[in-house]
Amino acid sequence: MRANFNNPAVNVQSWYVVARSAAVGRGKVRSFDLLGRKVVLYRAASGRVHVMDARCPHLGANLGHGTVVGEELQCAFHNWRFGPDGQCRAAPGLAEPPQRHVRAYPVQERWGLLWLFNGPEPLFDLPQLPAATRFWTLCPPSQHIRCHPHLVIANGLDAAHFEALHGMDLLESPRLTVEPPYRVTVELRGRPRAPLLRQLTGTERGAISASFTTIGGHLAWTAVQEPIEFYVLFTGRPTATGGCQTQTVFFLPRGLRSLRAFATTYALLRDDRRILDDIAFFPGFTENDAALRAFAAQVNEMKTG
Ligand code: FES
Ligand SMILES: [Fe+2]
Repeated sequence: MRANFNNPAVNVQSWYVVARSAAVGRGKVRSFDLLGRKVVLYRAASGRVHVMDARCPHLGANLGHGTVVGEELQCAFHNWRFGPDGQCRAAPGLAEPPQRHVRAYPVQERWGLLWLFNGPEPLFDLPQLPAATRFWTLCPPSQHIRCHPHLVIANGLDAAHFEALHGMDLLESPRLTVEPPYRVTVELRGRPRAPLLRQLTGTERGAISASFTTIGGHLAWTAVQEPIEFYVLFTGRPTATGGCQTQTVFFLPRGLRSLRAFATTYALLRDDRRILDDIAFFPGFTENDAALRAFAAQVNEMKTG
């Protein structure tokens, strides 16, 4: 049996982005390929979104062709109806609804995105902003990176690469905090070496001070305190081709100060893509890779779903 870390054959239980909220209007039904299965989303009359496996347990039709009836989803093939819990509630022509059900998933809508948890109950929540009202939210288009999502999510834990790849001088030793079973944090304080980036980030005399926290195996929460306070949530789900479909959510200060936040993000991320798109990973960790090792160990202990 292979471990979970960097293993495209399994999916650890986590929140995954399925779609943008706007893609599923009231009364609408959409199906998506996700985590090696087909799921169906529908927005019921109440406005709530429900998610379940898309294969009808009668003859296997795609419930994505169905219609919303109140809070229920009706299959287009023989009009069986399913409740938000996935249980069959009605089957025309049969005296009783048969004891059939489809798997339903916990779902939530946050920041204009629809999130599914691939387990019976969420094991952890999405991150909370300290003071949400002071920030505006930006969800840039999703990107595809040609490596497993675990490598994308763990990137911020790799303190050494900030000096080598991102051209930063670290001003203090990185601090590592491991909080089993779902969190690893690395705190960094550093400054870009390139004069132009120092100018754009406003760190000629100051520094970039940031913490990177993995939450489960597919969420990474970046909290930047200097030169300006902002937050970035990185999330990635595996694709059928063994890559990572990312979704990033920025929580930015208002006005022109957000430009400094973008410059800081660039300083922290530049050149990652070049490496991650072309990596054939193996876990040759050394004592300098304690955070990566801790993350991989946590992922290997997580339930799959
Ligand atoms: S296949 Fe769905 S009701 Fe028959
Ligand atoms: Fe990086």
